[in-house]
Amino acid sequence: MTEHSYKEDMVVRKDLDFGITSDDIPRYWMAGDPFKTRVFDGVQMTFPDGERYFISSVRLFKDQITDPEMKQAVRDFSFQEGQHGKVHSDYNDRLRKQGVPVDKMLAVINKIMQGRLKNYSASYNLAMTAAFEHFTAMMAEMFFSRKEVMAGADPRVRAMLAWHAIEEMEHKAVAFDVMQKVAKVGYGMRCLAMAHATFNFTLHTLIFTWIILGKDGFKGLQRAKIYGKGLWWLMGPKGVYTRLFPKLLSYYKPGFHPWQTETVHNYQAWLQTFNSTGNPVLAGEAMYEAAH
Ligand SMILES: [Fe+2]
Ligand SMILES: [Fe+2]
Repeated sequence: MTEHSYKEDMVVRKDLDFGITSDDIPRYWMAGDPFKTRVFDGVQMTFPDGERYFISSVRLFKDQITDPEMKQAVRDFSFQEGQHGKVHSDYNDRLRKQGVPVDKMLAVINKIMQGRLKNYSASYNLAMTAAFEHFTAMMAEMFFSRKEVMAGADPRVRAMLAWHAIEEMEHKAVAFDVMQKVAKVGYGMRCLAMAHATFNFTLHTLIFTWIILGKDGFKGLQRAKIYGKGLWWLMGPKGVYTRLFPKLLSYYKPGFHPWQTETVHNYQAWLQTFNSTGNPVLAGEAMYEAAH
């Protein structure tokens, strides 16, 4: 594989403990804000199943990969995604205890993903995965490049997201490279899959947040008010999601490759702290502190 200037090493890290099952994590761990908390909760809820889908769609091409470096990259990618799935599953247990109908909601998502695997070509599924991987790699940018987004969050949940963001940046080119070099997916399909993924991701975020807020007991006008204010934070002119658009659009450039995007400046802060302490919560805090 070609070397790129911003390439980070993929490291397999196992059984990290964030204390995510602790009972003292507040229900609204994100600065006491129901909307912000439930946006994150709704997005992270789908990670274990989503990551299984990513692994499956990359593995469909496993036997066609001849480059030993790419073979190893796929193994490391699968390992990292598997670890994310484990931690986010623990997190989903927290949501179940809070009365969130996690299994009912995930059944819908799973039906969609199974339908995709059944009805679309292996290449298209891989293109969808590469598109979603672009989203997850943007997480670091979205959540951690500026302090304000994660301000007031519980350090343990913030650290879980920081670790996930770090590893997504490390393996951000794996699905993309298999898609381009092995599945030989062309520009048209790549862009179509990104449009599809963006539509699904946005719709899912908006619907899941709405449902969870309803289960929290916010009904009628109260829920509409929380939702309206929250949407401004998310999708207003300076919204968290809106700010991602330039990065999102870069995926549509014909010569795009994930390593063309510079890794967030505070990646090193996470890495150094984790390597010296082995503590993922301290590493997450170091990354947060180093944000602008
Ligand atoms: Fe992941
Ligand atoms: Fe990933």
